[in-house]
Amino acid sequence: MPGVVIVGAQWGDEGKGKATDVLGSRVDYVVKFNGGNNAGHTVVIGDQKFALHLLPSGILTPGVTPVIGNGVVVDISVLFTEIDALIERGVDPSKLLISNAAHIIAPYARTLDNVTERFLGKRKIGTTGRGIGPAYADKINRLGLRMGDLFDEQLLRDKIEGSLEQKNHLLVKVYNRRAITVDEVADELLQYRDRLEPMVTDTSLVLNQALDRGETVLFEGGQATMLDVDHGTYPFVTSSSATAGGASTGSGVGPTRIDSVIGIVKAYTTRVGEGPMPTELFDEMGDFLAEVGHEYGTTTGRRRRCGWYDAVIARYAARINGLTDLVLTKLDVLTGLEQIPVCVAYDVDGVRYEELPQDQAAFAAATPVYEYLPGWTEDISGARSFEDLPQTAQDYVMALEKISNCRISAIGVGPGRDEIIVNHDLLHVRGA
Ligand code: GDP
Ligand code: IMO
Ligand code: MG
Repeated sequence: MPGVVIVGAQWGDEGKGKATDVLGSRVDYVVKFNGGNNAGHTVVIGDQKFALHLLPSGILTPGVTPVIGNGVVVDISVLFTEIDALIERGVDPSKLLISNAAHIIAPYARTLDNVTERFLGKRKIGTTGRGIGPAYADKINRLGLRMGDLFDEQLLRDKIEGSLEQKNHLLVKVYNRRAITVDEVADELLQYRDRLEPMVTDTSLVLNQALDRGETVLFEGGQATMLDVDHGTYPFVTSSSATAGGASTGSGVGPTRIDSVIGIVKAYTTRVGEGPMPTELFDEMGDFLAEVGHEYGTTTGRRRRCGWYDAVIARYAARINGLTDLVLTKLDVLTGLEQIPVCVAYDVDGVRYEELPQDQAAFAAATPVYEYLPGWTEDISGARSFEDLPQTAQDYVMALEKISNCRISAIGVGPGRDEIIVNHDLLHVRGA
């Protein structure tokens, strides 16, 4: 039985939350393996809309065990705000498990995120301000606090002290902020200890045992390929491994246990924050995509930058993640366009690039080479099989499949849980 990974194939907000939710009824565990509350997933169930940040989208499916893996950074106060809001709406989060090795976003990480951005000025990343970068920096610097540390108060205080020694120099001498005390950090974190105790465990063991029993585990990536710290548009990226490899390191499940990797792509492109985006539109077509697609961030409310589908990026995502399938979302948003431009390659100073330029300046200078595909005017939100789509919409999907180098196994035609066309079995085992 499969281990299935879901990753974003663009710059995030492709509809990963909905895809996880759709598959949720067929899986036993949903694991978030990277990122933190910088993510924002909107899931629409009937007339109810849920916005999730830190919790895996599987939390909305009864019977599924949601897991926060070791690769995630956890803001504990946000965790409980989100849990309590779900309980109020009748969702039962009692099965949630959290890795004892997941790192904690300490209160000073949020402060440092915001002051660093301010000091970067025009070089800023446009972060979500949730303390993600500083929390991962502490992890890599071996100065981080882990969930398991909460249950050894002396160890926790000792680690906070070690971390603050350096932070306070920075905060006071460089950023002109007040110093933070060990007590205030320890008190804030320790207030959650009793509530956390039943959730925090060795989740790698739990997941591997589930796979041994033949159960299905879905690994849900936050952010996306182009925001991955290694493979994205560095330095305009997030601080974690958002690509498929991150599913293994971020959960403690080996790569041999992963059977399929599903990439989620929008039928166009969006990006939040700074950094290059070759197909970005600055005209009324960009406004059209933003308004019809409701492209406003789930986490920060920022308007997303919008542009046409970029097949260079889709091919890159297929390669970096070893994608077995693509889920194409938001096809309905393109309804009503006479022609739909699709970027098939880049032009950089007169040179054609079929693959992503690895040079930061070349990528920043890339202009899209477009092919133009005919559009459709029919409402497609009621389509439930590929044949229900108008011929030109079918042709658009087939053209995207070809130039993206990966089969398209499902097509989103609206935000609702049932507004999807499933073309192939998404939980297939490669080669079966
Ligand atoms: P995520 O971060 O990848 O989970 O994506 P977000 O939830 O941030 O953004 C995707 C948005 O698109 C959400 O508001 C979804 O409800 C919505 N959505 C997902 N799939 C479709 C679709 O096929 N059509 C339309 N119109 N909306 C969709
Ligand atoms: P989901 O999971 C879109 C972007 C931020 C910023 C950069 C770094 O909903 O797809 P960070 O706070 O992570 O240090 O910010 O990454 N970013 C996202 N953009 N969707 C997300 O998550 C994002 N998470 C971070 O806008 O440019
Ligand atoms: Mg999102």
